[in-house]
Amino acid sequence: MKYPCRLDKYLSKAKLISRSDAKKLIKSNRLKVNQQLAKNAQLAIKQDDSVFLDDQLLSLQEHCYFMLNKPSGYLSTEAEANHPSALSLITELSNPLHSAGRLDVDTTGLLLLTNDGQWSHRVTSPRANKFKQYRVDLADAIGEQELQQLRDGLMLRGEDKPTKPALVEYINATQIVLQISEGRYHQVKRMLAAVGNKVVGLHREKIGDIGIDASLKPGEYRALRAEEISCF
Ligand code: URA
Repeated sequence: MKYPCRLDKYLSKAKLISRSDAKKLIKSNRLKVNQQLAKNAQLAIKQDDSVFLDDQLLSLQEHCYFMLNKPSGYLSTEAEANHPSALSLITELSNPLHSAGRLDVDTTGLLLLTNDGQWSHRVTSPRANKFKQYRVDLADAIGEQELQQLRDGLMLRGEDKPTKPALVEYINATQIVLQISEGRYHQVKRMLAAVGNKVVGLHREKIGDIGIDASLKPGEYRALRAEEISCF
């Protein structure tokens, strides 16, 4: 951030909100700069100024972190001809965000988005060895033998190393909750194909200790909390 900077810009960066929302907050007389009520969005903020919102001292967080409930039909990468990018759902910031890990276009659920490359590297690094949890809807009923194969690890077509042991919870004949600690290409779909089944619905619920917020409808997002960011 370059100083001096306008109060509305400072506020939008500190609270990860849009400039227009920042202006509204300033108009509602909730800002103080160095103990003085600040009503002017253009007020120049210097590096050693203290900016308070409702008596809470603000600080600038240059990195931002979000969880998104990815809807089906969106790519977790850049947009392509037929599909928009999930990144376009985060409307408030001009910061270039990227996703920490990928989901297929038809997979829904937890997608982590950030502009902190080191953090996303830690999220996706195989060395982190964190489980990712998926709710999986299946075309055909699954039996105990197939569940055991998923748990033990199995060979995927075209690969020479078996998958690492997975955690599998049986929900009903056509739904399981699967936790895997790797991130191979289309891994869940290929694991189920390897036991002769087919995935018809895939929803990511958790990455490590970060679970999707149940209040987020498809397409909605929220900033991660400090304790979630520090999971990685
Ligand atoms: N495994 C898949 O097959 N697809 C996803 O989107 C995520 C994991």
